[in-house]
Amino acid sequence: MTKGWTKSDWRAKPRVQMPDYPDQSALNGVEAQLAKYPPLVFAGEARKLKKQLALAAEGKAFLLQGGDCAESFAEFAADNIRDTFRVMLQMAVVLTYGAKVPVIKVGRMAGQFAKPRSAGTEVIGGVELPSYRGDIINGFDFDSASRVPDPQRMLQAYTQSAASLNLLRAFSTGGFADIHRVHAWTLGFAEHDKAERYRALSNRISDALDFMNAAGINSDTAPSLASVDFYTSHEALLLEYEEALCRIDSITGQPVAGSGHMIWIGDRTRQPDGAHVEFARGVLNPIGLKCGPTTTAEDLKVLMAKLNPHNEAGRLTLIARFGAGKVGDHLPRLIKTVQAEGANVLWSCDPMHGNTIKAASGYKTRPFESVLREVREFFGIHKAEGTIPGGVHFEMTGKDVTECTGGLRAVTDENLSDRYHTACDPRLNASQSLELAFLVSEELSALRDVDRRVAL
Ligand code: PEP
Ligand code: CO
Repeated sequence: MTKGWTKSDWRAKPRVQMPDYPDQSALNGVEAQLAKYPPLVFAGEARKLKKQLALAAEGKAFLLQGGDCAESFAEFAADNIRDTFRVMLQMAVVLTYGAKVPVIKVGRMAGQFAKPRSAGTEVIGGVELPSYRGDIINGFDFDSASRVPDPQRMLQAYTQSAASLNLLRAFSTGGFADIHRVHAWTLGFAEHDKAERYRALSNRISDALDFMNAAGINSDTAPSLASVDFYTSHEALLLEYEEALCRIDSITGQPVAGSGHMIWIGDRTRQPDGAHVEFARGVLNPIGLKCGPTTTAEDLKVLMAKLNPHNEAGRLTLIARFGAGKVGDHLPRLIKTVQAEGANVLWSCDPMHGNTIKAASGYKTRPFESVLREVREFFGIHKAEGTIPGGVHFEMTGKDVTECTGGLRAVTDENLSDRYHTACDPRLNASQSLELAFLVSEELSALRDVDRRVAL
């Protein structure tokens, strides 16, 4: 229990990246309404996820976190949720095979609506308007009415999150997530002419499933093959919303963020004395902390002490996002800080946010090669330091969008305009996501082989 903490203490701290609502009484009305609504997730689920993340920190599980950069009201549809869920399950099977440990599945879903922005305003054709900050805050359309922060949007985000979670829970246990089905979809991917490299691994997974089946281990005898645990996460940016959904866990008496299982603090809002850290430090959920090139050892030390004062395993995930070619400049110094403090953390790699570039066509994109390179650098440094690369964090969708370049179906700069649907940052499409999972799986399996040799 964080002594003396209350869910509104963040209000007395400096805040950044949050809107100034023009109508205070409308805001108060929405907050009061949300405070009466049921939480979206339950404390016991957040505690269970924390236990699983503690295993990942020890190398006994692996975290796969992924989903939209920004969920949107316009793109809300059962098919979109289903497709992202499906590709995450496919990735999880492929990663499980490489790592030989359980893969913890955490969606950037059912709550990922608020966005930090690098500039407060946007200029198009000489017209300057406040930046779009995510559908929970204001509208994407470039007109002054849309860009006014509207608290009613929080109610729509809540409703959309509740409906998304309901569907995710149904998919998780209702037969859709059966490993045999999930793997059958992957076999379809591996049939692609250019997927030859991945065919051998997917055939080995088929063999393993056939062997288990022959030995009497199937979805009937082992129900864990037919269902999954699936968790939700988002950046806890809009603190009025987070506070309104904060509840007390009836079992431990501790406050819990009821908006999602895991919340994270972004690279732009991790000021040690700021409002976002103040809110996150008091809730029992697993907390993610983005670490970028500007994260200093001193700040990290203070942040770890504030966010995880009892050094609880599974509580804190450090999400490294430096950019390909820069991991070596920053990760070793932060690993040393963690070691010097004796801090218990899970290291995860976000290879998206340090690799955003502007294509000649003007679209924001991320080259598949840079994403892959950052993951490899992350693994390489952990290997050299003797520490554990425990997870990955992707912006991705199950749809066939053209937002990131590269991959085996080679999206080019010229293709970007074909199906560029993101409301914010470019996402890996279904094929790129699965391909990346195969490549990460190869890395994990190589690490495992090294461990095995050491153990012999
Ligand atoms: C994000 O995860 O969408 C994000 C904005 O990341 P970061 O805070 O690391 O830039
Ligand atoms: Co993003």
